[in-house]
Amino acid sequence: MTRRPPRRSGLDDIPVARRTSPALTPANRWLLRLTVGTGSLLVALTLLLVWRPQPLQRLLAPPPVKGLNARTTLDGRLLGHFPYPEVAASQRVAVAPGLELHREAAEALLAMQRDAASAGVDLALLSAFRSIPVQNDLFFGVKSERNQNARERAMVSAPPGFSEHSTGYAVDLGDGRAPAANLSPAFDQTAAFAWLQDHAARYHFVLSFPRGNAQGVSYEPWHWRFEGTAAALKVFEPAQRLSR
Ligand code: DAL
Ligand code: ZN
Repeated sequence: MTRRPPRRSGLDDIPVARRTSPALTPANRWLLRLTVGTGSLLVALTLLLVWRPQPLQRLLAPPPVKGLNARTTLDGRLLGHFPYPEVAASQRVAVAPGLELHREAAEALLAMQRDAASAGVDLALLSAFRSIPVQNDLFFGVKSERNQNARERAMVSAPPGFSEHSTGYAVDLGDGRAPAANLSPAFDQTAAFAWLQDHAARYHFVLSFPRGNAQGVSYEPWHWRFEGTAAALKVFEPAQRLSR
């Protein structure tokens, strides 16, 4: 009986010398790298456009305030100011004629005014909650009155949707015995300011815009915000983080 030779695979038919793929020429190697690089870039760009991380969304979004040709920065700020929600009417209470605050801040402010009065200091409430439409009129109305450009205006007033006042947690305070210093840097020379510096933290009020603040807003010794609840702290966390 003759023995059949073992079956040879097709591969065995290829001469050894021809099995290896030819080495890439330098030109081909570059072409390959270019193709892989461009492909990866395209995939990454497509993913970015589909997924749209928040910073990219902010960059692509139209300017957030009508009439203002300014865009938010990557941290969400517009001309230095962080965005703030408007407190719901159901959360607001009156603290003085025509002036409302978030109920948590209201309680703290009234206690602070009472204790200041006992120490002979008249803490006058000049401004409290401001709705976004009111802030809009304040920003654009006074801007026009004073012939200011948007950047100049934003040094002293927040654009609508970007004011701490809309949260119901911020107040502008004056000294009832020195009204000439109202809303002026000279307020820091009054007895009311000295008292606030020594006592405001006890009521969870902090100065929002000290001299040289990181937001680039003008020095406002009269503007204090309440940070005495977890909700208030959360609202002001981005501003806190920037000032650290
Ligand atoms: N004056 C402060 C910056 C405001 O308008 O909220
Ligand atoms: Zn203010």
